[in-house]
Amino acid sequence: MKKINAAVFASGSGSNFEAIMEFDDLICDIVVLVCDNPGAPVLEKAERYGVPSVVFNAKEYSSKANYETLLVRELREHGVEWIFLAGYMRIVGNTLLSTYENRIVNIHPSLLPSFPGKDAIGQAYQAGVDETGVTVHFIDEGIDTGPIISQEPVQVNPEDTKQTLKERIQQVEHRLYPVTINQLLRNS
Ligand code: GRF
Repeated sequence: MKKINAAVFASGSGSNFEAIMEFDDLICDIVVLVCDNPGAPVLEKAERYGVPSVVFNAKEYSSKANYETLLVRELREHGVEWIFLAGYMRIVGNTLLSTYENRIVNIHPSLLPSFPGKDAIGQAYQAGVDETGVTVHFIDEGIDTGPIISQEPVQVNPEDTKQTLKERIQQVEHRLYPVTINQLLRNS
């Protein structure tokens, strides 16, 4: 049976990309990686898994609409139906949002609506909360404001450093994201 084609967008290390690729029963094919950072370690990971990459430098385009138009063209060439953001550090604009309405999903390292935006783990750590977590949600025009699909709490222990907290949050991310992707696609 033909699987659903999907893209992962990432800007950095790509541990979530790797977790998605390593998941045994993923019911979609990751057919392309989109990356806005030519030096990102995720690119080597994509190569290792034989996933083609589309790399772009936003500075070379006069507007977000310009590079997103080009991305939409590439995504269509790969038959992409769903987009999974995994550490993609750009705000998604209207061109992508309107083309992939309700089909762009993000993972965020906090229990949204708490601690949206950058360095969510640092924000939670500084705030001294005893619980934070992970959220998988749809993307809308806001920053980490779209409808929530799944969440899992992570306790903050008194002996935690920001690094140990991050490690535990990422372990949850790596388990939760592929499982949520499968549930989402099964119900779509
Ligand atoms: C993850 O913590 C994810 O929640 C956030 O960015 C981080 C990406 O990490 N959006 P990685 O590149 O997948 O290792």
